[in-house]
Amino acid sequence: MALCSGRAVIFDLDGTLTQSEEGIFNCVRHAARAVGAPVPDDTALREYIGPPLAYSFRAFMGLDDETAERAIAAFRERYHRVGLFENRVYPGIRRLLRTLKARGDYVGVATGKHGDATRRILDHFGLSPFIDSVCCATDARSEKVDIIRAVLPENCREAWMVGDRRFDMEGGKAAGIRTIGAVYGYGTLEELQKAGADVCVESVQALIDFLCPGEEPPRGAFLSIEGLDGSGKSTQIALLTDALDRWGFEVTHSREPGGTRIGEMLREIILSPENPEMTAETEALLYAAGRAQHVRELIRPTVASGRVLLCDRYVDSSVAYQGGGRQLGVQRVLDINAMAVDGTLPLATVYLDINHEAALKRRHAATSPDRIEAESDAFFARVEQAYRELIWRDPERFIVVDASQPPEVMGEEIAQRVIQRLVEDELHASSAC
Ligand code: TMP
Repeated sequence: MALCSGRAVIFDLDGTLTQSEEGIFNCVRHAARAVGAPVPDDTALREYIGPPLAYSFRAFMGLDDETAERAIAAFRERYHRVGLFENRVYPGIRRLLRTLKARGDYVGVATGKHGDATRRILDHFGLSPFIDSVCCATDARSEKVDIIRAVLPENCREAWMVGDRRFDMEGGKAAGIRTIGAVYGYGTLEELQKAGADVCVESVQALIDFLCPGEEPPRGAFLSIEGLDGSGKSTQIALLTDALDRWGFEVTHSREPGGTRIGEMLREIILSPENPEMTAETEALLYAAGRAQHVRELIRPTVASGRVLLCDRYVDSSVAYQGGGRQLGVQRVLDINAMAVDGTLPLATVYLDINHEAALKRRHAATSPDRIEAESDAFFARVEQAYRELIWRDPERFIVVDASQPPEVMGEEIAQRVIQRLVEDELHASSAC
């Protein structure tokens, strides 16, 4: 048993750290079909999240012991293959676990799940580094109180069990520790109060406020996405946002030019086809001016609040479009932007790699081009060339993705590579604490 001199916070998994309904619902449906039982509707399916499977299949599906065993086997087979990844980390949970770790708390997970599923889920979503110990059900240990006792460290000054069902509250009480009912999960306030929860929280934010009042949030991250007009950025931003949500990263979107009130006003001026007399230098300085505001008003505060800021274009666009396209020169545009950026660069920049001819074909499908989209093919050839130079200069930061692939294939590659960077960055930040 581990030792702990401070505080221990023990979490249930399903409905507390992760929103597992998609996978669990699919597996209960699969198990019902496998034993020829009627498939429960969505309301009835909610009951299956939290209690032990043996209990659920008997109590909710009305199966006899032998059929319940077969249903459990069918459930587990599908669950271990795919169901456990059909899961979402609740927004805010990453931030909470990172904050607890930074405070020096002992963090445990006590779940009624059997086998290695819990570890696989925590590993898959990059949460394991913030968790000291995991304890699951075994054939000899299926009561929640025993699972909680097994994960609790010795000698802690204070210990809490956080869970979303009555089993968690009752188990925590029986183990002699205080309990927090997570009302945002699958139980109800009434269920949790009736089971004796010491505290109930309606949201993950309320849980953070309760467990870590006044605590500095861990640093978030800044990401940007770049490419020629027509490279498919909007679709990829939507797909990446969905993946980041699933992993529990809290995403704020922004764009350049724009992102702030002043930035959006500058965007109007810069992109308006009614400003044909704008010189290349004016254009470069206006982009840089909007960026100076963006960095200070939105980007830095968002990252400091623990969120991921996902920006549609950043300084690389200026280097490519004004430096390359307008022929002001890569170094001159970097110099113009030095004060605006002031050292704030993305952790990772996704570059959607498409050649200018293919991008032009895609742009032709779009209606009224703005002042920049209306530029010549030679202009975009220079933009593409300048992007290549940037990638060559800073290969660590860029995630270059072949944009001629089908959008979903590209989306998966981007999500996997970006999430890997984010998880590495979290680890790095936590080891620096
Ligand atoms: P968007 O259509 O991707 O929102 O971008 C607006 C246009 O502005 C796009 O054609 C690229 C261009 N642009 C620059 O020329 N320099 C810059 O610094 C930025 C951010 C965008």
